[in-house]
Amino acid sequence: MDYEAGGAGYARIRQPDPTIEAAIWAALGSARTVVNVGAGAGSYEPLDRDVIAVEPSATMRAQRPPTHPAAIDATAERLPLSDDAVEAAMATITVHQWPDLEAGLAEIRRVASGPVVIMTFDPGHLPTFWFNDYAPELWTHEAGRMPKLERIAAGLGGTVRIETVPVPLTCTDGFMPAFYGRPEPFLQREVRAAQSAWNFVSPEEEAAIIHRLDQSLSDGSWDARYGHLRTQPTFDGSLRLVISEPE
Ligand SMILES: C[S@@+](CC[C@H](N)C(=O)[O-])C[C@H]1O[C@@H](n2cnc3c(N)ncnc32)[C@H](O)[C@@H]1O
Repeated sequence: MDYEAGGAGYARIRQPDPTIEAAIWAALGSARTVVNVGAGAGSYEPLDRDVIAVEPSATMRAQRPPTHPAAIDATAERLPLSDDAVEAAMATITVHQWPDLEAGLAEIRRVASGPVVIMTFDPGHLPTFWFNDYAPELWTHEAGRMPKLERIAAGLGGTVRIETVPVPLTCTDGFMPAFYGRPEPFLQREVRAAQSAWNFVSPEEEAAIIHRLDQSLSDGSWDARYGHLRTQPTFDGSLRLVISEPE
């Protein structure tokens, strides 16, 4: 995503969600020092611990609230930290943007003496989301952007486990599956501007997708197929934690 151009409304639409936050913080264990790589506006940073934030985009760094530490301007592939500098590391919804994934994973593993927690989407599961019915090309492309979980696990090494993070109906972090049970926000340009998948379709394609969704909401066909999701408390939106503990 071109955050220098389009990231200004990101922090408002992508508020950290409390249940997702709890899952990440539990995975960080008892670590007192944490590096957050690709930290963005600071979502999910455990502010009761010492946090070092790393974020290459000036637009994103500028959106960090005053309660959060200022972020270092660096990339995952070259972390300006010594070996085992922190007790744990986290990277949330960012690994798919790293130009050299393996280099970034090796770096994040290098600087943490304890758990490394990567939150990402499982590309093998993403096609199960109903959005695929409205925008198969966009969604296939989105799944293709996400690294396979096995690749992340191999890049991190150590003892790896993968946890599913259920997406709550009230999810406050506006990534696309967050709206599984309330499709109307997709019709808002500001919501889509905080979802990087839209950057990969033309304005005409985006308009056509939104028109199809709008039509099926108006004529009741979305509700006929998916209306049960409006009250379903959680959903498997393909969100996963890949957690590496050192050997
Ligand atoms: C979708 S945002 C997620 C931000 C935050 N972690 C969150 O959960 O809200 C992805 C972030 O990854 C950052 N990013 C992109 N390439 C990166 C790289 N090579 N190293 C570190 N961060 C990177 C972007 O600048 C952006 O802030």
